[in-house]
Amino acid sequence: MQTIFEKSVLGRSQYQLPVAIAAEIELGEGMTRSMLDLPEVSELDIVRHYTALSQRSFGVDTGFYPLGSCTMKYNPRINEAMAGLKEFAQFHPWQDDADSQGTLELIYRTQEYLTEVTGFPGLTLEPAAGAHGELTAVMMMKAYHLDRNDTQRRKMLIPDSAHGTNPATAAMCGFDTVEVPSDAQGGVDLEKLKAVLDEKTVGMMLTIPNTLGLFDRNILEISKLLHEKGALLYMDGANLNAILGAVKPAKMGVDVMHINLHKTFSTPHGGGGPGGGFVGCVSSLVPYLPAQRIVKDGDSFRLDFSAPKSIGRVRAFYSNFGVIVRAYTYMLRLGKEGTKRIGRYAVLNANYIKARLKDFYNIPFQQHCMHEVVFNDEKQTQYHITTMDIAKRLIDFGYHPPTIYFPLIVHGSLMVEPTETESKETLDEFIDAMMKIAEEAKVTPELLQRAPHSAAVKRVDSVKAARNPVVVCNTCCT
Ligand SMILES: Cc1ncc(COP(=O)(O)O)c(C=O)c1O
Repeated sequence: MQTIFEKSVLGRSQYQLPVAIAAEIELGEGMTRSMLDLPEVSELDIVRHYTALSQRSFGVDTGFYPLGSCTMKYNPRINEAMAGLKEFAQFHPWQDDADSQGTLELIYRTQEYLTEVTGFPGLTLEPAAGAHGELTAVMMMKAYHLDRNDTQRRKMLIPDSAHGTNPATAAMCGFDTVEVPSDAQGGVDLEKLKAVLDEKTVGMMLTIPNTLGLFDRNILEISKLLHEKGALLYMDGANLNAILGAVKPAKMGVDVMHINLHKTFSTPHGGGGPGGGFVGCVSSLVPYLPAQRIVKDGDSFRLDFSAPKSIGRVRAFYSNFGVIVRAYTYMLRLGKEGTKRIGRYAVLNANYIKARLKDFYNIPFQQHCMHEVVFNDEKQTQYHITTMDIAKRLIDFGYHPPTIYFPLIVHGSLMVEPTETESKETLDEFIDAMMKIAEEAKVTPELLQRAPHSAAVKRVDSVKAARNPVVVCNTCCT
């Protein structure tokens, strides 16, 4: 039995596939493929469909992606080639140390590089992401205090400019979070800090440079104040890219820090994983590091589990190994001199954008910025234009919008992080687009209010979506 049927597979006007013609195939007694309602398309049609979908995706490989606080730098292709080597890609984590010498050495060497740039004697690459590194570090802080029978400490101090993962991490470790306000320069308000700091303080989680793109000049004073009360200074090192090669965190009075490998060392971003989180610490915290440690005995390497005071394992196997291969490839290519250039160029690029746009957009903090610059919509509100309108209009110019409305302490914040991998030409084109948008805000505000005009998905009513969410399950419900 053979019949011919027609089917419009996706039913969408924009990417509608040509009518597919397929022959029914017997699947079982009395059952045909047409009865299963499976889409029938030719190979060419399906290739075109998925290629069209892939062209809707936006990434660093397709355009400028100045998403503040995310450090969307270019991920060199050679990283992928190295991680794809069959000796790495096909390596099984259950293989014993004798068969794992190459992989253990690679992790060990990555640790050596990170010891050099951070200055910390103790470290681990076991966590799978930045936030996982935070959790590891705060668990170590907790173990440190408990080991001293210092059981009263329950307060974790967190600046009001912090990333949301900081208070979440402190809460997961059972601590109360106490917000510390920022001062007029965007740093920690020292007087407010002194008012909440006492012998019940576990420590402070401080992002350096902070999410306003600013370096807190009082870092040494903050560290001193904390240590006087027996508390620890934790550095959220997610923004290490800005100071890489310029300053060692261990020299700033920091006790423990995390780094997101994907933000500084050019590995793919992936929503909490597949990431890589490094934790470094001073010698007094070394006993509490995660249980799996890579040690060098003579010329060979092994995993060591003999750490009685350790917080235990934070992962089943050691790290996201593929991420470490990529990061190590990047480190090798940078070398010592290249490492010193990263932070400088990242800071230069952000300040270049800041200087050229200062007459067009309001800048809440006037001092030199680090890796990112925060603007807001104060100059545009007179034309009824918001940060959201500016961000959406940038899509029409071919850019991924910057981070908006974060950090929360800046009203209408628009945070631009160009990274060091962008050329001056790219920055100039982006600046031109931002200038054009500032002009449009004055003369044709409706153009911005209805933007984006070129994207497949137009402006959604986010207020309505938040108030009346329509939750649909596409897996099992129809
Ligand atoms: C300042 C800061 N802290 C923590 C994190 C969390 O890192 P992850 O996304 O790797 O979990 C981020 C993420 O970008 C960050 O910017």
